[in-house]
Amino acid sequence: MAATEDHTTTEATRSAYYVTTPIYYVNDRPHLGHAYTTVAGDVLTRWHRQRGENVWYLTGTDEHGQKIMRTAEANGVTPQEWCDKLVEEAWKPLWQHLNIANDDFIRTTQQRHTDRVQEFVQDLHDKGEIYKGGYSGPYCVGCEEYKLPGELLPGATEDEKLCPIHKRPVEWLEEENYFFRLSAYGPKLLDFYAANPDFIAPASARNEVLRFVEQGLQDLSISRSTFNWGVPLPWDEKHVLYVWVDALQNYITAAGYGADPERFAELWPASVHLVGKDILRFHAVIWPAMLMAAGLPLPKRVVANGWLMVGGEKMSKSNLTGISPTDLTSHFGVDAYRYYFLRAIPFGTDGSFSWEDFTARYTSELANDFGNLASRVAAMVGKYFEGALPAATAAGPAEQAVVDGLARAAAEADRKIGEELDFAGGIAAIFEFVKLVNGYLTEQEPWKVAKDTSEEGQARLATILYTAAEALRATAVLLNPVMPTASGKLWESLGAQDSLGALADQTIATVADWGRLPAGTTVTKGDILFPRLEEKPAS
Ligand code: MSP
Repeated sequence: MAATEDHTTTEATRSAYYVTTPIYYVNDRPHLGHAYTTVAGDVLTRWHRQRGENVWYLTGTDEHGQKIMRTAEANGVTPQEWCDKLVEEAWKPLWQHLNIANDDFIRTTQQRHTDRVQEFVQDLHDKGEIYKGGYSGPYCVGCEEYKLPGELLPGATEDEKLCPIHKRPVEWLEEENYFFRLSAYGPKLLDFYAANPDFIAPASARNEVLRFVEQGLQDLSISRSTFNWGVPLPWDEKHVLYVWVDALQNYITAAGYGADPERFAELWPASVHLVGKDILRFHAVIWPAMLMAAGLPLPKRVVANGWLMVGGEKMSKSNLTGISPTDLTSHFGVDAYRYYFLRAIPFGTDGSFSWEDFTARYTSELANDFGNLASRVAAMVGKYFEGALPAATAAGPAEQAVVDGLARAAAEADRKIGEELDFAGGIAAIFEFVKLVNGYLTEQEPWKVAKDTSEEGQARLATILYTAAEALRATAVLLNPVMPTASGKLWESLGAQDSLGALADQTIATVADWGRLPAGTTVTKGDILFPRLEEKPAS
């Protein structure tokens, strides 16, 4: 049974900035680790949308394979029922909750995927890239997996070997499988990496892949005949396709491969595949080799993020450290959640989550530096000018420093977030600017200037408040990709919607053009952007 299609189309024909996340296994519910990549992709795509580009953001779910089949069996339902339930009850609602603006959601059980996957592998088979071979090796029934001899534990007798996980004897199994001639692609891949030094990032990930491929590649077993929850091989239906070979193709099947040539030309090759570092080889070795074999262009970049760690280990459901994102958003809110992980952990390295660090950043950066600035400025425009933004008629060097600071922050954030995927660096640049504006207000002391009722005094006061409000206008635009809700509230409180239009339509190219917010705009004191946190809930 195929799941309902979810596929939206676009009118645009310009070549797209196409970003993907890994498609997540639906054997369990999402945890912080999954949300980390998806939020990063969302910030990247929202940034590029504000660059005025034609952006397409894809996420989805990986639904075949033994892991899912067994979970379904253990829960007394069919694999498809299990997947439908998890996708609808856990995965899609989480992305909605976290404000993820994906354009499409692909499920590998959808017919738009499975039909194309069959055509793709048939094509490789026809081209002689796939051959039938045998595989024999120690097999653990508990794991349903071939083991490597080196990982086995000694058993009771000299001949007996134990599975390291189940501690039970493994069996010797021989099976007929189909193989993809991956070994033939080593030299071609190395040439490709050399010609495209930015293909894999960060540098540590690139080096790891180079070392791996330089050692020589083995052909890849791409079929399984011991279970049937997968895409059948069109030429031999006793076999289903190895789940990874099926899953990787989501990036092209969702883009219209084999179904909509115009759309495919617009989207493919992908601009960025975001992946966790544990699945780098699949994306930077196997996937490019499959595409080369099919004669298709290769993605432009594969960017690997590090792991979120708990107690020094990768956070995961299987070791019971998988924290649900909603455990944090219920306390800190969605915007702060989106902000925290990207700000606190340099993208590409591992990082630990700590409640204390999150609380500290929330309070000092979001509530004090940013939230207070927004509410103070709105309150002063209300108090001294009855909410009508005054014009800046007496600008001097202090104001010029704010104008220059904005130009610097915008350029740096655009380079770091938009190009380098250095989210922490880009957000830091924007917050440097927020700090600069706070410093400007502290120095200019508008609350004191307000007492000077001379024309000059009032002109200074007007100039200071205009400068601060205009700086907030730009801050809302720059932070919108990271924190769309708080930025939207700020936009509303500045009355910017009426004069400048929707926040999401503001471009990065014009963000530093000083003076966009017109004088006379109605500024209102909106909601507090980052309210004081409640006590930490008892764990
Ligand atoms: N289904 C495959 C991906 C197929 S893509 C064609 C898969 N799924 S997964 O659900 O197990 O993992 C998806 C992603 O989540 C991986 O990129 C993985 O690195 C990431 N994470 C899982 N735990 C993580 C952390 N603790 N920290 C950061 N990311 C981690 O693999």
